[in-house]
Amino acid sequence: MKAAIIRKFGSPDVFEITDVLIPKPNKNQLLVRVFASGINPIDWKQRKGNHRFILGSPFPIILGYDVCAEVVEIGLNISKFKTGDIVFGVLNNKYGGALAEYALGTEECFALAPRNIRFDQAAAFPMVSITVLQALRDKANLKEGQTILINGASGGVGHIAIQMAKIFRAKVIAVSSNRNQSFVESFEPNQFIDYTKTDLLKLKDKVDVFFDVAGTYSFLKCKHLLNDGGVYINTLPRLKILVHKLFQIFSRGKKVKTLLMKHSNSDLEQISSWISQGKLRVEIDETFNLNNISAAHDYAQKGHNKGKNVVIIN
Ligand SMILES: NC(=O)c1ccc[n+]([C@@H]2O[C@H](COP(=O)([O-])OP(=O)(O)OC[C@H]3O[C@@H](n4cnc5c(N)ncnc54)[C@H](OP(=O)(O)O)[C@@H]3O)[C@@H](O)[C@H]2O)c1
Repeated sequence: MKAAIIRKFGSPDVFEITDVLIPKPNKNQLLVRVFASGINPIDWKQRKGNHRFILGSPFPIILGYDVCAEVVEIGLNISKFKTGDIVFGVLNNKYGGALAEYALGTEECFALAPRNIRFDQAAAFPMVSITVLQALRDKANLKEGQTILINGASGGVGHIAIQMAKIFRAKVIAVSSNRNQSFVESFEPNQFIDYTKTDLLKLKDKVDVFFDVAGTYSFLKCKHLLNDGGVYINTLPRLKILVHKLFQIFSRGKKVKTLLMKHSNSDLEQISSWISQGKLRVEIDETFNLNNISAAHDYAQKGHNKGKNVVIIN
């Protein structure tokens, strides 16, 4: 099968398009034929070698987690899916493996893809949507009428967060640069703030949830912006957060939380249902083919996309 592999960590130029063997599913895995893969920051961070101390360097590596794909073979223990099913999901192999014509994942990775959207759109949804759902529901416990500020509202996670917070009937303050203002406003947040003109730390009104998608703040810097009992969440697990947790003690019930997405096909089913009802849409910024994977990573790692970037594979 055709795959984009890396034989060393480094710049976007390290990709090589080559033929490799189609992987064999074990009894708990599905083999899927990949139509498209959404790019996430974790992909280019791993290409640079950021996770090599945790995940090792098992070269040649096939990167990429998000897929929309067709099930072509199932292991003995698979009961939720059958061959021919069109699924979307987040692969759970060490470095993913989505940038190839075929890939493996366990049942937990997938749900049936919504039928009312294209395959490239389905491939763009999984990681960012599960992340947002787990952040708003499990970490923030976001309630109707509460106010959430989303810092980094124009990117993959951010533009889904605006929409999902509205599904939770929260009031949304969306923060991005003015370059992306009209894009962000198309999702109808209650308020828009341009971070190039406004210092968030000087805002007068307090919020219940500060979702720091861009990771440019910290609990210590912005806890004065939280209502009593409010939550600061980021998506960048760091040791520093442990120190900040100590300051929760003096913070009138305010909490600092960090989120690491967990695979969950029931969460994907919930997301699929919202997509089918027209409550969630994904915006594709740029589309690339597998031969242009270096250009795709180069663009994505600039970190100023509107929504998602997708690689078409089959
Ligand atoms: N822990 C997890 O499980 C998990 C899961 C998914 C994602 N993440 C992490 O979440 C982060 C965001 O992911 P993503 O997919 O949304 O990335 P992305 O699509 O690359 O979006 C980044 C966004 O950040 C905004 N931004 C850049 N600098 C900013 C600043 N100074 N202030 C406010 N916004 C700024 C950009 O908007 P402008 O162009 O307007 O500046 C851009 O739209 C990444 O670090 C990713 O690794 C973690």
